[in-house]
Amino acid sequence: MTTPHDDPHGEDIRRAAALLADASYCIALTGAGISAESGIPTFRGKDGLWTKHGEPPLNQFDEFRDSPADWWRNVAERRRNPDELTASLVNAQPNDAHFAMAELERIGVLKHTITQNVDGLHRLAGMERLTEIHGNSRLLRCTQCTTRSPFDEIPEIFPPRCDHCGGIVKTDTVMFGEPIPPDALERCYRESSRADCVLLVGTTAVVSPAADFAFAVGQRGHPMIEVNLDPTVITQYCAVALHDKAGELMSRIAASVKELRGSGDQ
Ligand code: OAD
Repeated sequence: MTTPHDDPHGEDIRRAAALLADASYCIALTGAGISAESGIPTFRGKDGLWTKHGEPPLNQFDEFRDSPADWWRNVAERRRNPDELTASLVNAQPNDAHFAMAELERIGVLKHTITQNVDGLHRLAGMERLTEIHGNSRLLRCTQCTTRSPFDEIPEIFPPRCDHCGGIVKTDTVMFGEPIPPDALERCYRESSRADCVLLVGTTAVVSPAADFAFAVGQRGHPMIEVNLDPTVITQYCAVALHDKAGELMSRIAASVKELRGSGDQ
């Protein structure tokens, strides 16, 4: 027999699983913490990139607009000499938390996930009902018509132009000062306005508009569930808050949801 002392998260995992299994339209918001166990550094917190190196300049998008060709030359240079984040993204693989979320999507419990991560790991884990609100570092995007294409190689001409509309193409990653692409924003509004439960995994939930979509669900009186290494600004509003590594917690939550639903495949 296990006691709460042996398994401090057991009861909260069961409560979180029950809320997820009961919800008719659960969405999730994920952040850098879900990819920490894949070797990708977070932004804030103890070992966060910005804690160590300071925040990046806030005028990145102005620089792109002022001179897209120069901006592309910098991208090419960064590919040759990658910084810590760029280097960590290259060979990163999904971890247990990404796979657990993919399983929750597969069995129909998780209806949509908004991720702030640009690493593409949710996709690699098999998730399809996904909005990458800050873009995907493995893609390019037309600034005019938002058509996306794989970012396999540095383009030959700076700046590259869209095959469809001739607009200027940039990487899909959303920079400081850059508006969220309208198609992503629209999907986030649509999905969060339907939701009756929200699961937040590995995010400080301090960046707008991403965090607003999760808060909106809570403000309508629906349960919020937090999975994070540490407490955050949203902890006090959560029906259940679990504080430990996302990999193990999410695996256990997914297993518990499947147990509650019998086979879990209906
Ligand atoms: P942060 O770096 O702000 O927060 C990461 C969160 O993950 C923190 O709350 C950590 O405690 C938690 N964490 C770390 N390791 C974890 C683990 N193994 N398991 C669970 N949780 C863990 O990242 P975000 O909230 O994603 O946007 O930041 C949001 C946005 O801020 C980013 O998308 C970025 C930045 O502005 C852009 O660059 C556009």
